Formats: sequence, structure tokens, C-alpha cells
Amino acid sequence: MKVLVIGATGELGREVASILWERPGVQVRAFVRRPLTAESPPVDEVVTGDLRDRDSLRNACAGMRTMFLVSSPTQDQVELETNAIEAAEAAGVERIVKVSNIPLPGLDTGLHGNHRAVERRLAASRCRSTIVQPSFFSSVLDKQGDVVARGAVVLPTGPGKIAWIDPFDIAAVAAEALVRFDLDGPLHLTGPDALDGDEVAARLGVKRIDLPLDKWRATVVASGLDPWLADSSVHLFEAVARGALAQTTDTVESVLGRPPRRVFER
Ligand SMILES: NC(=O)c1ccc[n+]([C@@H]2O[C@H](COP(=O)([O-])OP(=O)(O)OC[C@H]3O[C@@H](n4cnc5c(N)ncnc54)[C@H](OP(=O)(O)O)[C@@H]3O)[C@@H](O)[C@H]2O)c1
Repeated sequence: MKVLVIGATGELGREVASILWERPGVQVRAFVRRPLTAESPPVDEVVTGDLRDRDSLRNACAGMRTMFLVSSPTQDQVELETNAIEAAEAAGVERIVKVSNIPLPGLDTGLHGNHRAVERRLAASRCRSTIVQPSFFSSVLDKQGDVVARGAVVLPTGPGKIAWIDPFDIAAVAAEALVRFDLDGPLHLTGPDALDGDEVAARLGVKRIDLPLDKWRATVVASGLDPWLADSSVHLFEAVARGALAQTTDTVESVLGRPPRRVFER
């Protein structure tokens, strides 16, 4: 069967493409906006394009049975992902597996509002869909590599626990949904345990810094983060502090037949 992987240069798409490429009987077509490099996953075919360019999406979807849909957390994410959904519908793609996030009561604007809007669009689509709703990726702390190397980690989440997940597990579940056809979701994905900021810092062997959110926002915006994404993150961290992402699920194990990977262990 033929699978289109959008975002094949990204963290999840790269893993999804690699996992599927090794599966007998699966052909992987990558949709990318820049040339693949030595670090790129092995694929059978590459289509160059952009989620803003509907013609390129039409080319990419032709002849595909399923589509992996992920894109960056930007303000125009609904428009970009809707372009991909429309192209898939026109090409007769059977199933779309979309990376979303965990719905949280009261968070219906910004990044969360965008994911809910794409989920509603998929619910109304003639393509079947699997919505993958992961908790925080443990890899978000990789961006703090320099800070961690200096003995600290910034986690402005108060006492809240997060059921952090290894992104490889998200990709492995998404890859199953792309070829198995019995995973209709939504699939709420978490790691094996929920950790507060102090527990994460302890696993990393560093000191935890819990900044007030206004100070955190000012710092990340000064370093170049889109203010829209900074605001979405502030709302998310407030929800985390209230315990909104502390719930673990057994979804990874029920799909993959093995427990989710442990995180932040060195
Ligand atoms: N981080 C978390 O803790 C977390 C938790 C829950 C959900 N999520 C969701 O996960 C998603 C991000 O996943 P990820 O980490 O795999 O993202 P990523 O590494 O940033 O990859 C995004 C991919 O989308 C591609 N892309 C972006 N805009 C495009 C465009 N206009 N045309 C074609 N391709 C485009 C990127 O291509 P280029 O390489 O060319 O940029 C890249 O391949 C977001 O929707 C986010 O909300 C994240």
C-alpha cells in the first residue's frame, strides 16, 4: 500500500517514514518543501511542495491510500492542514492520520483552537481519520540542551505533572494507524508516568527553574518565539499547573503491544 508522509523532515514525520519504509508491502512517499539530506529517512519517493500550494498537494496525494498529516504549530495551521485534507479527499485517500494535541477544557483558542478546528474538519470529511492526541513530547527539553549542560532546566509549570511521551512512541502508533485501518481514535497518547518539574529535573540531574509565566513569556518572545505561540504556551502551562496533563493512558501499550518508553533517563 502507498502512504503519503507530510512533514517527513520533521521530528515525527521522519520516524513515521522510517518505520513504514521497513514494513513489507508499504511504499512511502515523502512530501517535503526542502531537499532531503543524509539525516532524512529512507523513502521510496519524494514530492516537493508546500502546504500552501494546492497543486503540489494534488500531485502528492495522487494514488495514495493513507496520509500522515503533521505541520508546525503556527497561526495558519488550520488553513495549511485543510489544504492537505481537501487534496486527499479529491484524490480518494482512504484514511488521514493527523497529529493533534490533548483537548483541554477552556482552551479553545490559539494552538488548541487550531487543532480542534482541524479535528472538526476531519470529522466532516469523506476520508476516514485517526486523530493522534499526544501529551508533551519529552524532546521539547532538547531545546534547552545548553541550559541543561549548565545544570538547570526551565519548567514554568508550578506543581503540575505532565505525562511526558517519547516522540518515537507517537510515531510508532501513527505508523500503525496508517496501515491497520482499525484505529479510529482519537488516540490519547502519554508516556508511562506523570512527572512534575522537580521530578524531571531530578531525572536529568539538574536544578529546576520555575519562572513566573509573564517573565517566561517575555524571555521567549525576546529570543524570537512567535508571540502567538508564546501566548498559547502560557495558557497551556496554566492548565498544566492545574493538573490538566497529569493523566496517563494505556493507549500506546494497547496499540503497540509494549509499554511506552520511559523518559528523561540518562
Ligand atoms: N511538542 C509537543 O510537545 C507537542 C505536543 C502535542 C502536539 N504537538 C503537535 O505536534 C506538531 C509538531 O510535530 P513535530 O514536532 O513533528 O513538528 P516539526 O518537527 O516542527 O515538523 C513539522 C513538519 O511540518 C513541515 N511543514 C511545516 N510547514 C509546512 C508547509 N507550509 N509546507 C510543507 N511542510 C511544512 C515541516 O517542514 P520543514 O522541515 O520544511 O520546516 C516539518 O517537516 C504540532 O502540530 C504540535 O502542535 C506537539
